[in-house]
Amino acid sequence: MAQSIKKLLVVGGTGFLGSKICQRAVERGLEVVSLSRRGQPSQPDPSAKATGTNDWQAGVTWCQGDVLRPETYAAELAKCDAVVHTVGTLLEANYKGLAQSTSLCQAVSHLVPNSPQVKGQREHSYEVINRDTALMLAQAMAQSPRTKNLVYISASRVLPFIDSRYISTKREAEAALLKYGHFRTVILRPGIMYSAQQSLRSSVAGVLGMAGQVKQALLSRISRTQSPVPSAGLATPPLPVDQVALATVNALLNPSVAGVVPVDGIIELASRSQ
Ligand SMILES: NC(=O)c1ccc[n+]([C@@H]2O[C@H](COP(=O)([O-])OP(=O)(O)OC[C@H]3O[C@@H](n4cnc5c(N)ncnc54)[C@H](OP(=O)(O)O)[C@@H]3O)[C@@H](O)[C@H]2O)c1
Repeated sequence: MAQSIKKLLVVGGTGFLGSKICQRAVERGLEVVSLSRRGQPSQPDPSAKATGTNDWQAGVTWCQGDVLRPETYAAELAKCDAVVHTVGTLLEANYKGLAQSTSLCQAVSHLVPNSPQVKGQREHSYEVINRDTALMLAQAMAQSPRTKNLVYISASRVLPFIDSRYISTKREAEAALLKYGHFRTVILRPGIMYSAQQSLRSSVAGVLGMAGQVKQALLSRISRTQSPVPSAGLATPPLPVDQVALATVNALLNPSVAGVVPVDGIIELASRSQ
């Protein structure tokens, strides 16, 4: 199964982690294709702007498509040796909507299951985003003889006030992917990721802090005798997003790496020089 990897498809290549993976892969000389529903990256990479190295974005082919609709990317997939899946959501309600909330009430509306923002939006469920997107991709890969390597970005164990389905849907996807014999599967389980360029307000850590405050406010109204919900205590150490991106590319380029890689394994993989 070992083969050299020349062309990589990054599903979610416009995202927080996905764009870093694209950058690192381009720097390593891979041909890189990004797939996302929006297609183009929303803005020039701020870190690249600071260092005067925006060139990597020109080295990526930015494709528009939906991983749940293989017909939108099957032609690109057929030309790729490897795929990274970075689609996932920490909050079933749109956490980026939560991050943009300007009041506690608005933030609550993004978290309460029966609110208009959340109700009836199955496409925003953990089951679809964290699990079904990966299963759909695996089915498409099974039809693509050249594509023999997959990295699935999972997550470490559950955070204090995040629905347990966040991690259970990740684990369901992992179990299903590991059953495929057609390709090598690497599963990375990072904790929270951060970037020096990212403002706290738009970061997942910032959103977690806000989500924690909202839930705390709600619960204290329901029962004032209950002890307050602990603030956002992280179960695993946060990692720089660039470290996870480096680990991803190193995992792809080392055919002996396979299976589940926890946080310490991610740190070790990122430190490997190629
Ligand atoms: N951020 C963290 O701190 C953290 C921590 C632990 C684990 N993780 C995991 O790491 C992965 C990456 O997280 P992230 O923060 O980088 O996510 P993100 O910024 O939300 O990026 C997700 C990417 O997926 C694309 N996408 C979403 N639905 C899609 C679809 N149906 N078809 C094609 N593309 C789709 C998005 O673009 P469009 O919306 O334009 O399609 C975007 O490019 C996720 O699996 C997440 O669960 C993240």
